[in-house]
Amino acid sequence: MSAAATRPVVAIDGPGGVGKTTVSRGVARALGYQSLDTGAFYRAAALLVRLHRIDPEDEGAVLAVLAGADLDYRDGAMFVEGIDVSAAIRSETITAASSRLAPLPGLRMVLVNRQRAWVAARGDRAVVEGRDIGTVVFPDAAVKVYLDAPPGVRAHRRAGETSTTLREVATQLGKRDRLDSTRATSPLTAAKSAVAIDTSTLTADEVIGRVLELCRSRGVEPSGRPADGKDRAGD
Ligand code: DC
Repeated sequence: MSAAATRPVVAIDGPGGVGKTTVSRGVARALGYQSLDTGAFYRAAALLVRLHRIDPEDEGAVLAVLAGADLDYRDGAMFVEGIDVSAAIRSETITAASSRLAPLPGLRMVLVNRQRAWVAARGDRAVVEGRDIGTVVFPDAAVKVYLDAPPGVRAHRRAGETSTTLREVATQLGKRDRLDSTRATSPLTAAKSAVAIDTSTLTADEVIGRVLELCRSRGVEPSGRPADGKDRAGD
């Protein structure tokens, strides 16, 4: 990989429940970068579609609502029209709705452009997590990581974060895995140049350590200032 062809983005992809958010935040903190959870954009879109009572299959209507929407991600929180919706977008209803919305190609294009603008506004220094970051959003990321773990391990972790039973979490994760990896547009898949890390037997700190090691070897340098969550750059 030629250094000139890359930007100091750390791309972290993988299925649900694999630990992307914890790892992205830990890596960002160590580098003094901002981290972006792109799934929050798909979830915010699903929330908007629901609030406006739009048919999620009607891509034209979905895009019309998104076009005028003020979506902002800052300090690890998602804002829609200035309101912090971070908790609302984690509900089971919105989680399922976001997976059904994510295959729409036009919607993806709009959200990918917003994600790229967010990173550009931070001088291209960011840790970005999602499903298509290394393959589509930032194919020129200096570091690409694909986190993975067997479905049972991921379901256990997720069940620990919610009040839902392990069985129900496993069923929902299985459904989302299928939707995410079989859709025609930008399916979940590891980029050819991604380094795969199986997180099942590693602690979060161990995974973060491995990603930081990769950053060092690819010339992704710390920014020299703490990622203290005070960065208020707009999209
Ligand atoms: O990572 P998450 O669970 O918050 O993602 C919510 C949904 O959005 C999930 O079904 C996958 C989809 N998604 C996507 O298609 N592309 C991304 N870059 C991030 C999330």
